[in-house]
Amino acid sequence: MFADLKSHFDSIKDRRINDTLDGDRARDFAAQTGDLRLDFAKTQIDGAALDQLIALLEKADVAGRREAMFTGAPINDTEGRAVLHTALRNLDGDAVMVDGVDVMHDVLATLDRMEVFAEAVRDGSYQGQGGAITDVVNIGIGGSDLGPKMGTLALAPYHDGPRCHFVSNVDPADIAQTLQGLDPATTLVIVASKTFTTIETMTNARTAKAWMGETVKDTGAQFAALSTAADKTADFGIAPSRVFGFEDWVGGRYSMWGPIGLSLMIAIGPDAFRAFLRGGQAMDRHFRAAPWRENMPALLALVGIWHNQVCDYATRAVLPYDNNLSCLPAYLQQLEMESNGKGVSLDGAPLPYNSGPVVWGEPGTNGQHAFYQLIHQGTRVIPCEFLVAARGHHDDLHHQHQLLVANCLAQSEALMKGRTLDEARAKVADKFDGAELERQAAHRVFPGNRPSITLTYPQLTPEMLGMLIALYEHRVFVEGVVLGVNSYDQWGVELGKELATSLQPVVEGTKAATDKDGSTAALVGFLQSYGL
Ligand code: F6P
Repeated sequence: MFADLKSHFDSIKDRRINDTLDGDRARDFAAQTGDLRLDFAKTQIDGAALDQLIALLEKADVAGRREAMFTGAPINDTEGRAVLHTALRNLDGDAVMVDGVDVMHDVLATLDRMEVFAEAVRDGSYQGQGGAITDVVNIGIGGSDLGPKMGTLALAPYHDGPRCHFVSNVDPADIAQTLQGLDPATTLVIVASKTFTTIETMTNARTAKAWMGETVKDTGAQFAALSTAADKTADFGIAPSRVFGFEDWVGGRYSMWGPIGLSLMIAIGPDAFRAFLRGGQAMDRHFRAAPWRENMPALLALVGIWHNQVCDYATRAVLPYDNNLSCLPAYLQQLEMESNGKGVSLDGAPLPYNSGPVVWGEPGTNGQHAFYQLIHQGTRVIPCEFLVAARGHHDDLHHQHQLLVANCLAQSEALMKGRTLDEARAKVADKFDGAELERQAAHRVFPGNRPSITLTYPQLTPEMLGMLIALYEHRVFVEGVVLGVNSYDQWGVELGKELATSLQPVVEGTKAATDKDGSTAALVGFLQSYGL
């Protein structure tokens, strides 16, 4: 499928991006919607490549699949489910039909209930045994943790509600260290689990209940649940008035827009949460209406396909020059890798090309002092994706923000321009000569011509965060459709879960490791000899 694009890349790959970068290219290889701008001019994609990439969208019928998603068709066809996280931010309530039923009534009613509860927690009218809630602990994992955690960190300047904590790992260190120092009598525990069966979450939830039970008489009254499984939340002892349900057409990694976002709503308030939803809705409208050449999610997806499937760059680095987005790379790891890390296409045949890329990253400028060395001079090419705002939230420190922006722009410029051997020689000619000059200069050469894209926006507001997250969701959708995979199931997480269950009696010592392979048995033996 990518053969023509690959041969086109081969024919242009030595062309210096820098030599092509006039004002027209900066205009033509960019897109803007609202106040969010995507620049992909610092890549090798040229007009011919873009034409061929857009042809992939037509061939895969991305437009048809997009309509199928927005209108509730069961496009998650290994689980027989619609994919309708977009309904959670459909604030105008236009009908969205699933199996002949308009789901918007329930979606908006749940949003209203969340808002009433969040306000009550924030204004102190909902109380714990010891008075107004001072701390909220969200217990969840994967999509039931990363979204609200990432969002709460991202929107820290808007955080005017109780303190929020996030517990995800079954490692007791996570819950023990989080609960340490909290007052159970003024803590609200939110158990966030779509299925209400995830072993890590349910184990932590029981630990939290026992901790609270040492002080609080009616523990259930200080618990809330976010789940599709009303029967299981009732069994856990949480009253229906504090259970916020959603449907199975909300995938875990797409769920922060609905009940799973409750901790974020409590942190920033219902108005700011609605602004976040409005941002997502604005991106939905853009994605549905904009022609491909102006369509930001589609263009971002095509950049991804170009780098991963065409150029064979196996990873992409997400580098927010926005410290409050420190959790964005982890959030995108789940969103992108759980969605498009698939080995077979929709019909079950092995994928004849690479699945989605490895996604990783850290905020700048920190990463510059850690792994950027490899990005600049290592032998592998790593496409970089920068994010940067015009303004931070600390006007009195704007000069520091300007330094941050200068660093961000300098990195993409350095990646593109590099430094030639002649330039490197000139840098050290006053210190060395002869063979030593050549040796020293060689270490200071930057190959350059390394691709990057940059997303720019005025400020990281709730609305802008909504636009950004919806942008990435739709990017994943488009990449998945072009690759022909199901972006909405996650069978690859099942085997490890099953084996963990079968290993539990082995590590507890109630069952011998005889049916385990030699390596696993030896690992268990070593750990048991040290007190496992
Ligand atoms: O590990 C797989 C997974 O199902 C994720 O997709 C999901 O976000 C996470 O586990 C948590 O699931 P739940 O919300 O059902 O506890």
